[in-house]
Amino acid sequence: MKDILEKLEARRERARQGGGQARIDAQHKRGKLTARERIDLLMDKGSFEEFDMFVEHRATDFGMDKGQKIPGDGVVIGWGTVNGRTVFVFAKDFTVFGGSLSETHAQKIMKIQDMAMKARAPIVGLFDAGGARIQEGVAALAGYAEVFKRNVVASGVIPQISVIMGPCAGGDVYSPAMTDFIFMVKDTSYMFVTGPDVVKTVTNEIVTAEELGGASVHATKSSIADGAYDNDVETLLQMRRLIDFLPSSYSAGVPEWPSFDNIDREEMSLDTLIPDNPNKPYDIKELILKVVDEGDFFEIQAAFAKNIVTGFGRIAGRTVGFVANQPMVLAGVLDSDASRKAARFVRFCDAFEIPIVTFVDVPGFLPGTAQEYGGLIKHGAKLLFAYSQCTVPLVTCITRKAFGGAFDVMASKQIGGDVNYAWPTAQIAVMGAKGAVEIIFRADIGDADKIAARTKEYEEKFLSPFIAAERGYIDDVIMPHSTRRRIARALAMLRGKKAEMPARKHDNLPL
Ligand code: HXC
Repeated sequence: MKDILEKLEARRERARQGGGQARIDAQHKRGKLTARERIDLLMDKGSFEEFDMFVEHRATDFGMDKGQKIPGDGVVIGWGTVNGRTVFVFAKDFTVFGGSLSETHAQKIMKIQDMAMKARAPIVGLFDAGGARIQEGVAALAGYAEVFKRNVVASGVIPQISVIMGPCAGGDVYSPAMTDFIFMVKDTSYMFVTGPDVVKTVTNEIVTAEELGGASVHATKSSIADGAYDNDVETLLQMRRLIDFLPSSYSAGVPEWPSFDNIDREEMSLDTLIPDNPNKPYDIKELILKVVDEGDFFEIQAAFAKNIVTGFGRIAGRTVGFVANQPMVLAGVLDSDASRKAARFVRFCDAFEIPIVTFVDVPGFLPGTAQEYGGLIKHGAKLLFAYSQCTVPLVTCITRKAFGGAFDVMASKQIGGDVNYAWPTAQIAVMGAKGAVEIIFRADIGDADKIAARTKEYEEKFLSPFIAAERGYIDDVIMPHSTRRRIARALAMLRGKKAEMPARKHDNLPL
């Protein structure tokens, strides 16, 4: 018996060694952890249970049948807990055939995807791999397709998170692209469909891996990544933080954590957040941080389309999605990037029954050929569509400008806002005073006094929350210092909200 136990331990030890000490050392030298070290950091201590550690590939071509078998076959799969909640994981092991995907490697990923779906718990994929196992050819391609299909079937059922922690190219990029979130590690990870060599051959463009698909590109320019962190350890700790905000599935309800932050807390400093000059910026994140429990806010896409802020916070211990125009960047205008960013976030929240709080200070949509040629109409429509199809509680608070179509788009009452507040500083109108006066009093433009009088008249008549409040488009004009309490009460009142869209196969979101 002792023999058998020792044999098992020896086989386990062999599997844990992956591609061997030299390759583990090389991994460490590059500032990267191994697949198992990463899982240990992601999961609660001692909670990880591994499956399929003895699985080996069945390839025979290119000498693969001769001493080229490594137990585990380049991916570690299993489940564990994150702060006590079940989470499934697969982690590519770069020390084994560069983490490349073989037929059996794909089967392991499918197994854990299927288990996560059965158990209705989130799945996290840690990527560090060289794409399809070149020695296996079409069997690897078919494996990818099976994984992709499962990503799509699971979309909107369980949260799927992808973390890019090394190379991620070819077939490996499309599975993350179909998950809910992609995070990257700065400097040591990159993601592209075709690498720098192919780029040079096809387009003659000379570009480094970092320039083509590093975190600096995907977190700021392409919006492929939802965030990037300095190293493996920080990234995995942030993933634990994110998971704490997410429901386990679309039907599980948001997690509820103990909160020591009084929901009646008043923030007197918010009464002076809005500058006297309506064209002066202020930081909308200050409002978010003062409203959420314990100032804990997990921002999504912090470095992309900074004119809109998206992320998760908690109120009364329960997760809330926040969307807020940011007056500090482009005056908080809505452009194509901001619309796409916010639309995707709103759809995630609605899919997983996370209530949404929207803070509005938006001068309108960004004018110009660059935006119109880039499809602003369609991208803006994405956000309008996303909010309009929400059935989760929507609480909106207009802090300052809500001009033009952007007023409608930003969770207005007419598209589904349940409780819509405005601060006394709100200005709700078709456009700002200057633009409006120049159009409706064009004949007076040469006369500075007349224009000044008209501008004042327009400001007094329209640039306040009360015209909208008189019509019931705004439910109440609230004191800024009471914002947390009012939002908390609205969310508590809406906890039992039931809303449904009519039966159909699926909608036709303007893609
Ligand atoms: C088999 C692979 C491999 C692969 C790497 N290795 N990629 N083995 N299939 N795809 C092995 C290497 O042979 C090497 O083995 C070890 O992994 C580490 O690789 P290195 O090249 O030494 O590492 P590095 O210099 O860091 O370069 C990493 C890399 C590079 C950039 C990922 O290995 C690379 O370019 N690999 C090929 C990428 C690729 O073209 N994949 C196919 C994509 S097509 P040893 O034994 O020396 O340690 C694809 C189609 C699917 O994925 C499409 C579906 C939609």
